[in-house]
Amino acid sequence: MQLDSLSWFPGHMTKTRRMITAELGNVDAVCEILDARIPMSSRNPDVDELTAGKPRLIVLNRVDQADPEMTKKWAAYFRSLGYAVIETDAKQGGVKQFSSAVRTLLRDKIASYEAKGQIGRVLRVMVLGIPNVGKSTFINKVSGRKSAKAEDRPGVTRTKQWVPVDKTLELLDTPGILWPKFEDSGVGVRLAFTGAIRDEVVDIEELAMRLMDYLGKNYPKAIEERYKLTVAEEDDGYALLEKAGRKRGFLISGGEVDTERMSRILLDEFRGGKLGRFTLELPPEGESA
Ligand code: G4P
Repeated sequence: MQLDSLSWFPGHMTKTRRMITAELGNVDAVCEILDARIPMSSRNPDVDELTAGKPRLIVLNRVDQADPEMTKKWAAYFRSLGYAVIETDAKQGGVKQFSSAVRTLLRDKIASYEAKGQIGRVLRVMVLGIPNVGKSTFINKVSGRKSAKAEDRPGVTRTKQWVPVDKTLELLDTPGILWPKFEDSGVGVRLAFTGAIRDEVVDIEELAMRLMDYLGKNYPKAIEERYKLTVAEEDDGYALLEKAGRKRGFLISGGEVDTERMSRILLDEFRGGKLGRFTLELPPEGESA
């Protein structure tokens, strides 16, 4: 599939939209998990409209893989739009700040519950996220839940799940899939860079070439150090892929570089954090704090 034409027919989204709307009355807040490397591309912008009026928390997850300076900028950007924001590495790091962030976000609500004599009333938070942002890992970490994802087990239909965090906080783990929204062609490309779109459905060399191009322009030092090459001004992604492949000795007959092999290596190393920490998109200009 051509990268620029990546899209999905959002059939499942209809079901998910219905579920979000139906459950909204049962929760106090909505928490959206985003991939800190691609905070915009990993959002589904419909969530804003669907959850209008609910207090909102954004979790920038995978901060261990993102550029720390850029994560600060993204957090400031979302705060300037009125969201509460926390930054997490759900895989290795702690997620303790989640409960206190929810309680701060809902302090007026807690006060009004208490005014009605409902001391210690359970707060309920709907958790949303497109696939691969780390939603399951995050929920498991926050709640101490050990179970595997239900949708990973054959024959198991996912139903809605209330997951207790502590005595006064519960999460609604949403069934149904929240798809990303391919509003511009860059969204599909960035999702593919991070592995959120399976490599089987994209042209791996085109993907790697685009990634090299981006890294060569924005993070040349990382490429130079990792692949022991020099990034020249005129080098495009393909030229860099060839240079890296040559350095690694990935040659095929006639001394040509095996760019397909190098493509897989680049994507693996990028996703595995071997090249460093990168953020692949900037907060929109003029709107940031
Ligand atoms: P999802 O429910 O949103 O689809 O994502 P899930 O939690 O299944 O996470 C997808 C992969 O991302 C998992 O890796 C998980 O460990 C990893 N992950 C989640 N959060 C973070 C994070 O903050 N930082 C990093 N570096 N990785 C994260 P996996 O390879 O599929 O599984 P595993 O071998 O790690 O268990």
